[in-house]
Amino acid sequence: MSSVLKDRNIVLGVTGSIAAYKAAEIVRLLRKRGASVYPLMTQAATHFVHPLTLASLAAQEVALDLFETKQGRMRHLSLAELADLVLIAPATANVMGKIAHGIADDLLTTAVMATRAPVVLAPAMDEAMYENPVVQANMRELKSRGMHIIDPVKGQLASGEVGKGRMVEPQKIVDYAEGVLQSRQDFAGKLFMVTAGPTREALDKVRFISSYSSGKMGYALAEEGIDRGSRIILISGPSSLLPPPQAEFYSVETALEMKKRVMERFSEVDGVLMAAAVSDFRAKRVFSGKIKKNACTSLRLDLVQNPDILQELGRNKGDKFLVGFCAETSGLKEKAKEKLEEKNLDLIVANDITLEGAGFGGDTNVVLLVGKDGEAISLDRRSKREVARKIWDKVKEFMPT
Ligand code: CTP
Repeated sequence: MSSVLKDRNIVLGVTGSIAAYKAAEIVRLLRKRGASVYPLMTQAATHFVHPLTLASLAAQEVALDLFETKQGRMRHLSLAELADLVLIAPATANVMGKIAHGIADDLLTTAVMATRAPVVLAPAMDEAMYENPVVQANMRELKSRGMHIIDPVKGQLASGEVGKGRMVEPQKIVDYAEGVLQSRQDFAGKLFMVTAGPTREALDKVRFISSYSSGKMGYALAEEGIDRGSRIILISGPSSLLPPPQAEFYSVETALEMKKRVMERFSEVDGVLMAAAVSDFRAKRVFSGKIKKNACTSLRLDLVQNPDILQELGRNKGDKFLVGFCAETSGLKEKAKEKLEEKNLDLIVANDITLEGAGFGGDTNVVLLVGKDGEAISLDRRSKREVARKIWDKVKEFMPT
């Protein structure tokens, strides 16, 4: 059977650990499975293994210098762009610390910062270093940002001692990289629509009704969907976030505009993830100028209900997959189940917005995923990207193939 690695570009970052000699075997195994390998070494790595070894096995020049250009382009940019996956093996405590904190002071760390490809790290270090809380915290940080870490194993270390910190064997590293690429293509050929952000309902020329929604959850869903091979239509209310360049992006303002866009594209899609915080009400009448304070001592606003977009999708569901969201302050599970049924959904993502680290604006979320089968999975506080990954996993699990 042909490997998912076939015809893929793997940028192999090698850093300064004694395990660097194993990078030679990694190059060989990746090529055996059909990948093109672009080795990139830090200066420290060149003390452990000669660049010529990797260059010969990869049949590619080894990239070493941040300021070197290739066909007029900076190396870090061309490598970051061509990579289908960046594999750093071995990864030292130092390189993980730098990546975790956004330091980009050499070719490898700069390429990692510039890439949109998945990043896999295989740490190798002494046990005491591995157990150092700062190293552990950095690894958690990398994971929370969606990077993959192949935990080192217990075994003979460079010091001669036996302990945890030994890089896993090349075969396993290559299998892992293959798995990352495989799992990421589980929505290939699909088209999903994601809605994000708040809507804004004008009251007059300068004021509106809206919510604290930032769009972060919806944008994370769009990014994760793209990374896993789906085409994405992203329909977003006002947000300061940059939409992923691969998404078909529509910016809208009001609930009615959002509804129009959603309905226009609904027939084409395999499913909808409705993460937008749609305003339930809009002004019955929008003042043509500015409401002036001197004109009245109190003000009554007449609001009318906006259509429930998701409910309408639920009525015309067919075989499309529908994911709804709900923000509650109490009785999370019961309300989530009610909404799931009421709106004819396959999955609902419920937030208790009273919890710390959950809901609007922040980078993390705490959610309960309730499926049509009634099963509820609660996810403790984690980054919105990680929550997005779990949501897509659930979509995959429930969706007919
Ligand atoms: N939603 C929608 N159109 C609306 C309101 C909500 O499509 N006019 C969608 C949201 O995008 C979300 C889900 O419906 O996926 C639940 O929204 P929520 O506001 O939490 O629940 P409601 O059903 O509006 O109930 P309530 O406001 O009473 O809590």
